[in-house]
Amino acid sequence: MCGIVGYIGDREAEDILVKGLERLEYRGYDSAGVAIVDGPDGSAGNGQAPSDEKNPGNGHLSVHKKKGKVSALRDALGERKNGSGGGLPGSVGIGHTRWATHGAPSDVNAHPHTSSDGRFALVHNGIIENYAAIKERLREKGHAFESDTDTEVLVRLIDDVQQETGLPLEEAVRQALTQTVGAYGIVVASAEDPDLLIAARNGSPLILGVGDDGEHFIGSDAAPLIEHTRQVVYLEDGEMVVVRRDGYDVKTIEGADLKKEIHELEWDLEEIEKGGYEHFMLKEIMEQPTALEDCMRGRINPEKGQVLLGGLTDVMDALRGADRVILVACGTSWHSALVGEYLIESLAEVPVEVEYASEFRYREPILRPARDVVIAISQSGETADTLAAVREAQNRGALALGICNVVGSTIARETDAGVYLHAGPEIGVASTKAFTCQVCVLTMIALAMAEGRTLTDGQMQEHLDALAGVPEKVRTELQREEEVADLAKIYRQASNFLYLGRGYNFPVALEGALKLKEISYIHAEGYPAAEMKHGPIALIDRFMPVVFIAMKDSTYDKVVSNIEEVDARDGAVIAITNADNHELDDLAEYVMRVPETMEYLSPLLTVVPLQLLSYHMAVMRGCDVDQPRNLAKSVTVE
Ligand code: G6P
Repeated sequence: MCGIVGYIGDREAEDILVKGLERLEYRGYDSAGVAIVDGPDGSAGNGQAPSDEKNPGNGHLSVHKKKGKVSALRDALGERKNGSGGGLPGSVGIGHTRWATHGAPSDVNAHPHTSSDGRFALVHNGIIENYAAIKERLREKGHAFESDTDTEVLVRLIDDVQQETGLPLEEAVRQALTQTVGAYGIVVASAEDPDLLIAARNGSPLILGVGDDGEHFIGSDAAPLIEHTRQVVYLEDGEMVVVRRDGYDVKTIEGADLKKEIHELEWDLEEIEKGGYEHFMLKEIMEQPTALEDCMRGRINPEKGQVLLGGLTDVMDALRGADRVILVACGTSWHSALVGEYLIESLAEVPVEVEYASEFRYREPILRPARDVVIAISQSGETADTLAAVREAQNRGALALGICNVVGSTIARETDAGVYLHAGPEIGVASTKAFTCQVCVLTMIALAMAEGRTLTDGQMQEHLDALAGVPEKVRTELQREEEVADLAKIYRQASNFLYLGRGYNFPVALEGALKLKEISYIHAEGYPAAEMKHGPIALIDRFMPVVFIAMKDSTYDKVVSNIEEVDARDGAVIAITNADNHELDDLAEYVMRVPETMEYLSPLLTVVPLQLLSYHMAVMRGCDVDQPRNLAKSVTVE
């Protein structure tokens, strides 16, 4: 979803901002823009605030924005450079990638938006919910609007407050924000003061990067910051920061001073680059063995039959003694939650419910303090609905835990305790390694809950041995990538797909279908295999490929009956089964084989060929795999 980058320092801002926007592309967007402040003497900002308050406008603000990719913005800036225009001068600036909410993707609706006289510019993530009422009020006062966005309304509101009160920009921003309802992460740059950036957050993440030699950076996530600094300050909701070259002041929106801790970013630059792969998605699929190893490192001890999840030590008794665990999540994370339900109920014998975070937060959930434990699962740790579900759970007195990948993310910080995936950055919009690592963490949680209660020491050792062996098995199946690519070639023209599985592999069927529709735009549905008879069977004919996850487990015979039913109706069966199972060779048109493991660990293996299948289908159909249309990596609005 929308991305923000800001820079203040002594280098030219243009390249830093555009590069930062490229790093933010993975979040999903449809237009991009920058605003750069040139210093009072026409050169780059010199760190001096304007000396004459009656002589504002001693800097100059250049705004360039374009519908489409960051490359279109880069090209437009390049053309300017190659013509007589030169680069945009200035060493203070803000940049934005917009994911349209109010108003279609267009040059005009793209950010930054400026005050009517171009005194200052603003970029905004989130939604100002009461924008229509504010717009009406401002219109009556004579303000005119060029765009359809809620963001322009916020800019004009700040403008209006400043004009009415004569307050410094920082104060006007603060006062305007107190009149808004909704979510925002904003950054403001001012032509009147080329030594100033103002950022504020309420519901949409912002990070301040503290560089060397008077450089500061602002990002909606760490991606645009990593190559410049690892020292960061996380802004919380209701906080704002005024940044100058020689330092920064964090305050609440109400104006109270705050002291904030500086954190160290964990991820490396190489981790957010493609490293020789054509797409981030393929890189991340291929990284799964290492990601799973990192996820388990230091946490499981198969010889002793022990699981140690440091982040949950203080709450493990509460978790083991819970009457009910409620897993809340969205998208792919919701699918891993479904696997988690099976895992925790069968291994630890604690009842589990799985909820879409977006439903949970609004349906007045009945939560019993000290008896119910809510676990939020979110790769990004920033999904608006999942975060709201965490807050809802906490407001109702429940213990709220988090399973996140992004260290320092809002959900990670706001939950009472939690576990990081340690999967490394996931840049491709379609989640892959985060899914397998989420399932791995849920497996470890289920085993930790079972330890000394529902599993004997011997069983624990056996389970942990099997879990420790999974990364190597994933490595083996990734070697069959070519076979999956061949399969993709055959089915790449299909318009519909059905994915069916049972038990632990029912959520994998859902995930396989989601992966395909997300990146190849082929309509795909996932169902529990037995549900096929209650509707989807009507769709089956020779043009309908049906992917069955048919592992030799407790549901195998039932799944084979479902395969027969599809075969009898001429459906094209693609089966995923155990490496040495040849019983389906005649029934299925194609068989994808995965290594043997314990039944409850099979989702970690069966999902891999489905990820590869959707990847190759999408590539062959010429789709933008890493940034599929309309999708966002981190959905920070509800
Ligand atoms: C978006 C992404 C999905 C992701 C979902 C939940 O829709 O495109 O890949 O599964 O959000 O994201 P989270 O970061 O909370 O896991």
